[in-house]
Amino acid sequence: MSDLRGSEKVIRWAKSGAPAPVDRLARPLRDLRISVMDRCNFRCPYCMPEDKYHKDFQFLKSSERLSFDEILRLAQLFARQGVRKLRITGGEPLLRQNLPDLVGDLSRIDGIDDVALTTNGVLLAQHAAALKAAGLARVTVSLDSLDEDVFVAMNGGRGNRERVLEGIREAISAGLTPLKVNCVVVRGVNDHTVLGLLEHFRGTGVIVRFIEYMDVGTINHWKLADTVPTRELLAAIGARWPLSPVGGNYHGEVASRYAYDDGQGEIGFISSVSAPFCGSCTRARLSSDGQLFTCLFANRGTDLKLPLRSGASDDELRAMIAGVWEHRDDRYSELRAGLRGDASKVEMYYIGG
Ligand code: GTP
Ligand code: 5AD
Ligand code: SF4
Ligand code: SF4
Repeated sequence: MSDLRGSEKVIRWAKSGAPAPVDRLARPLRDLRISVMDRCNFRCPYCMPEDKYHKDFQFLKSSERLSFDEILRLAQLFARQGVRKLRITGGEPLLRQNLPDLVGDLSRIDGIDDVALTTNGVLLAQHAAALKAAGLARVTVSLDSLDEDVFVAMNGGRGNRERVLEGIREAISAGLTPLKVNCVVVRGVNDHTVLGLLEHFRGTGVIVRFIEYMDVGTINHWKLADTVPTRELLAAIGARWPLSPVGGNYHGEVASRYAYDDGQGEIGFISSVSAPFCGSCTRARLSSDGQLFTCLFANRGTDLKLPLRSGASDDELRAMIAGVWEHRDDRYSELRAGLRGDASKVEMYYIGG
């Protein structure tokens, strides 16, 4: 594999004059996903099963999580290296107190043109207006089924379907749009409720996206047979409501988009198992305790908190981030089929999906 580092590969940004790193596969750094909270008020069995994340589980202490000032400083440095899009994730990000304060600061960073949030929706109704006022552009709500029993099974018995739906309504009326619903499809668990979910949201402007269940982390005992490939879902949905493909919104978009032929809106498919999109992956992930990950399936990150807290200068931090990105050659999803199980992948709740 060629090493793409070197002055001829460094793009200078007209706006900031700062060098923007590219990784070893020539992918620039464009998106930063910031986990602000490792805790969650759901216990989805595929992410935080109750038997492991029980009441005595040791989550991070508040002092171990990056403060808003620390997150802001890092986000500014990432923006100076090419990041244009921020997504706030968790665990459940709305469990973090005063989140609109952070959103306000992030949305004012020079060069950032999109700040979005991924939430399970339970606390969304009460925060939607303040988040919008602070500068949040849009939200994505994780909602795996509208069938009450299946909904409960998919979130470990902690969720409240009516509150999630109310959260979606409030977010739309606050203008946090286009609102997307992310549904992870697990064979034999919620696949039979996919049409019901679409029926509910068709014609409302909400974009439902189906995510192929993935082998993130190690605790969900994923098997390939649990994943419902997009082609199978597309056939089932298309038989009910004919669909046509729509071009992508932007380079590197993870979802493939389809429109209902009867004009009732669009849906999407995130086919990370059957059609990996590593070739255009420009995403970095920051955990709530300041570890930088260059892949959803990474088994280790780079600690930015220690240097942050021991007086590193902006230039030193910027060089660290650039160094990590320039060494990056991750493409886990493309290699998956040839890999044997690795016992030490990072868990999804910790870096936010
Ligand atoms: P938009 O900005 O609205 O297009 O959102 P997005 O598609 O970038 O992000 P979103 O957080 O909604 O991603 C949805 C899901 O896709 C995530 O929860 C993951 O399950 C999956 N996903 C996102 N990024 C990656 C990635 O880099 N690799 C893999 N394998 N899956 C990803
Ligand atoms: N495979 C696919 N998606 C997952 N998510 C969590 N775990 C997995 C997995 N193993 C999704 C959540 C949410 C987003 C943050 O990631 O359901 O939509
Ligand atoms: Fe919480 Fe999302 Fe994980 Fe479910 S998938 S436990 S809502 S972080
Ligand atoms: Fe990016 Fe890793 Fe996902 Fe591939 S598997 S798209 S490199 S995060």
